[in-house]
Amino acid sequence: MPFYPQQPGSIGVFDSGYGGLTILHGIQQVLPEYDYIYLGDNARAPYGSRSFEVVYEFTRQAVLKLFEMGCHLVILGCNTASAKALRTIQQNDLPKLAPDRRVLGVIRPTAEVIGSLTSSRHVGILATEGTIRSQSYNIEIQKQSPDIQVTGLSCPLWVPIIENNEADSPGADYFVKKRIDHIMRLDPQIDTLILGCTHYPILMPKILKYVDRGVKIVPQGEYVAASLKDYLQRHPEMDERCTKHSSTKYYTTESPTKFKENARIFMPEEINVERITLE
Ligand code: DGL
Repeated sequence: MPFYPQQPGSIGVFDSGYGGLTILHGIQQVLPEYDYIYLGDNARAPYGSRSFEVVYEFTRQAVLKLFEMGCHLVILGCNTASAKALRTIQQNDLPKLAPDRRVLGVIRPTAEVIGSLTSSRHVGILATEGTIRSQSYNIEIQKQSPDIQVTGLSCPLWVPIIENNEADSPGADYFVKKRIDHIMRLDPQIDTLILGCTHYPILMPKILKYVDRGVKIVPQGEYVAASLKDYLQRHPEMDERCTKHSSTKYYTTESPTKFKENARIFMPEEINVERITLE
């Protein structure tokens, strides 16, 4: 079994790239006193159209790196990684490699609240191709609320639009409207739309422009944060292993300069970033 630092450490937040910053931001609003390490695998992003095997292997490498960096608890702040890698990491890797450490995802916390948000019991999911194809949201929502009908649709162009800083452009209007119209045609009774990709909250102004007024839009950050808070309250032994000095360190597998520049799309403050490699 590998040796990981035993002393308390930061909470790790992993994403394929920048999108997990929206999840980190949501968590920091609710749990500001904790220390965080954010790791973006920007050199290999996007994960959205990659195969199960590749997403699993990349995510596993990132989780083990965060353990090496002292994290006892890691949040996969990436829907694609949560959909394709979380279960295997929890069931196969942790028992062998780090039985006392925990990895949590972003899909279950969102699935758990959906039953209390929808009245029509018709819910739509907008996400990457990988997340939609995995059916993870459908499976999790069915477990919690079997009466809910779930319709998923991938939006492959939304992530590149955001990462190319085009979220305010007329092009974004065109592609956002197209996908919203499409999912509402697939099931006109949808009254709740989950933004099942970390990037999509950046498109919120456009999304709100094109959905009918009665439709609720559900970004994930606040639900993931509430669920993490609840988890730490229920697991005081894990809470004790998470340090609390309100610090955040950022790491990327790409150029730190590029990360700093693009991170501005997702968060207002200036950050320091270091480069690391994953293998
Ligand atoms: N972070 C990913 C997700 O939430 C979106 C970006 C990607 O495809 O890597 O699914």
